Amino acid sequence: MDVCDQILVGNSHAILRVKELIRQVANSDLNVVLCGESGVGKELVAQALHLSSNRKGKPFVKVNCAAIPNELLESELFGYERGAFTGADKTKPGKFELAHNGTILLDEIGDMPLLLQSKMLQVLQDFQFSRLGAKNDVKVNCWVLASTNHDLEQDVRDRLFREDLYYRLNIISIFIPPLRERPEDIDLFIDYFAGQFARKIESPIFEFSAHVRDFLRQYSWPGNVRELKNMVERLMLLGDWRTLEEELLARETRRINGHELTTHTSPPTPNDLNREKKPKPKFPRLKDVKKKAVHEAEGKLISEVLRETDWNRKRAAEILQVSYKALLYKIKELKLRRED
Ligand SMILES: Nc1ncnc2c1ncn2[C@@H]1O[C@H](COP(=O)(O)OP(=O)(O)OP(=O)(O)O)[C@@H](O)[C@H]1O
Ligand SMILES: [Mg+2]
Repeated sequence: MDVCDQILVGNSHAILRVKELIRQVANSDLNVVLCGESGVGKELVAQALHLSSNRKGKPFVKVNCAAIPNELLESELFGYERGAFTGADKTKPGKFELAHNGTILLDEIGDMPLLLQSKMLQVLQDFQFSRLGAKNDVKVNCWVLASTNHDLEQDVRDRLFREDLYYRLNIISIFIPPLRERPEDIDLFIDYFAGQFARKIESPIFEFSAHVRDFLRQYSWPGNVRELKNMVERLMLLGDWRTLEEELLARETRRINGHELTTHTSPPTPNDLNREKKPKPKFPRLKDVKKKAVHEAEGKLISEVLRETDWNRKRAAEILQVSYKALLYKIKELKLRRED
């Protein structure tokens, strides 16, 4: 039993393939993108990659690109010198430096702002960068893993994610399938999480009836393994199967009738080494629609004002009531060009 088997529960064909890929790429240092719906185990697979590699005694550092406000993400990743900005009262190394000789997981990479994506591209070329406000460069050696529940290819088409960064990161892509596509693992998961929780709360092993197990095997698990883990723990604590069964049935009915948008967000990416082709989800994520609509509206307005001012960007910034710098950023972000 190797580290993959110790960390990752599952004997389904899909999980065995994921474990095989982990073993194959563990010492390659090639960039890996982990994709799959929320709660499928992307972070756990990242840990399995790190622990299967010869970097295992070194740091494993995770940065959640979606949870950190855009303006702080750069300093979080690359660190800053004392006095680099108001409030920087001491020098702080960034996550890349902390991950030196180890592995860095760029979690939710799809949410990284475009301007930072271009800096990331440079860093991935030579692993050399300077802390914010610093004169000298630092050089690090780390293995870069990224995870996402976005369809990054679609984000590239929508110009929300840089194509060059996509290709640089996506050298190896590991797709972790949703739990509903590997129901044969559900009993294993129930026993594993039940055992883990029983030890935690010091209670005897809990017996799940055949009826409960049958039901859980057929449920669609929009929240994937995380949802199953939470459900097992709730059942062990409250023993309220009847209420839970009703809740789950109602949820399934709503879903089947199309009233509930699921979190399924990972249509196929041709590069995935282990993904079977599946149809695109019927609906995009609300968040993505919003982002795209804002981009389109901004692009239209800014282009109009630039045309009106004959591409006098100072004047356009005044009209739009944004700073000159902010306008330049937007022009670059939206890839606006003068049409002569
Ligand atoms: N194969 C597995 N074996 C054991 N535990 C698992 C497995 N897959 C997932 N889990 C557990 O399920 C939970 C969710 O996993 P994880 O955080 O890795 O998912 P994720 O894909 O990163 O989710 P998100 O997209 O929401 O960040 C964790 O508690 C994790 O330990
Ligand atoms: Mg995660």
